[in-house]
Amino acid sequence: MKKSELIKKQISELLADFPFLQAFFNDNGLEIEGKEALTLPQYFATFDEDEIEDRAIDAENLIFQIGEFIEQMIAFLGKDEDIVKTVSILPGTDKSGNAEKFNELVIKQGEIISIVGPTGSGKSRLLGDIEWVAQNDTPTSRKILINNDIPDKKWRFSSSDKLVAQLSQNMNFVMDLSVYEFVELHAESRLVENKEIIIKRIINKANDLAGEKFSPDTPITSLSGGQSRALMIADTAILSKSPIILIDEIENAGIDRKRALRLLLSEDKIVLMATHDPILALMGDRRIVIKNGGIHKVIETTDQEREILSELEKLDKTLLAYRTKLRSGEIIEKIENVNR
Ligand SMILES: Nc1ncnc2c1ncn2[C@@H]1O[C@H](COP(=O)(O)OP(=O)(O)O)[C@@H](O)[C@H]1O
Ligand SMILES: [Mg+2]
Repeated sequence: MKKSELIKKQISELLADFPFLQAFFNDNGLEIEGKEALTLPQYFATFDEDEIEDRAIDAENLIFQIGEFIEQMIAFLGKDEDIVKTVSILPGTDKSGNAEKFNELVIKQGEIISIVGPTGSGKSRLLGDIEWVAQNDTPTSRKILINNDIPDKKWRFSSSDKLVAQLSQNMNFVMDLSVYEFVELHAESRLVENKEIIIKRIINKANDLAGEKFSPDTPITSLSGGQSRALMIADTAILSKSPIILIDEIENAGIDRKRALRLLLSEDKIVLMATHDPILALMGDRRIVIKNGGIHKVIETTDQEREILSELEKLDKTLLAYRTKLRSGEIIEKIENVNR
């Protein structure tokens, strides 16, 4: 988008055209509520000199970055027809052949759905149905619709137009990578020639986009939200292009799970995650309960559960702190309330 156009539009118009801009404003601590009728230059003119100084606001540069962000995101999201707005699951049968008792389960773009149930109950099978875009041709007899329609065959057979990214087996290992290794992994799965040059280019590009610089040896789990986003935008990986992400039991990763997930997911995707881990399960907007191979219930995460989630996250931090101390050979003493 040309800068001359960008600076003429009201923020509300920009958000209507590019809903992902909200994430940019949030990440940069730019409060736009009540100011949607302003253009970007008018908006930045509302900050007084002290604020500009304290918060190091550089309007000119931010507007430039917004323009870049829009361009990158459009490239990253792909063509309109490739956007998956909904995934619908139509009922099949459980392991005993009984019909599943729901009409249609519609999952919308941006939703995170967790899948819970005992081992062997059929969680991976459900993920498999979605990956295969089942049409009554799997053991469950479920049907999967994409955008309310029987999907184009290209989703099934083309590896370049992948509908689904699986983060199953390799997830733990992915989370231990450095920025360089992470990009290299993607480069290897896509591009064979000039690998080194392309990796450098991606990392440089990400550094241009990110506010704070990071080096190729930085572990991906210690990137900030903005840095991860920049890396994802700069990286044209298969993972980042797939509109649906399936995650099968990644719990054994002893690291900051939320941070890793934030890196691997983005707001415009549909995420389905089979898990036994309460933290991961409650991170979902809803959870599907599987019993005997069938979808038994769908539960919306309650407000109380969200509060419990934040308690669990604190416990998790404490556990992590103990683990770190133990690992480095220290004597364990009581750690008081590890925050944030
Ligand atoms: N609705 C179903 N009908 C028939 N077989 C099923 C059904 N759901 C799951 N299965 C089978 O049950 C077995 C265990 O399922 P799986 O998805 O691996 O369980 P989980 O991931 O919950 O441990 C697999 O062989 C799977 O194909
Ligand atoms: Mg499984």
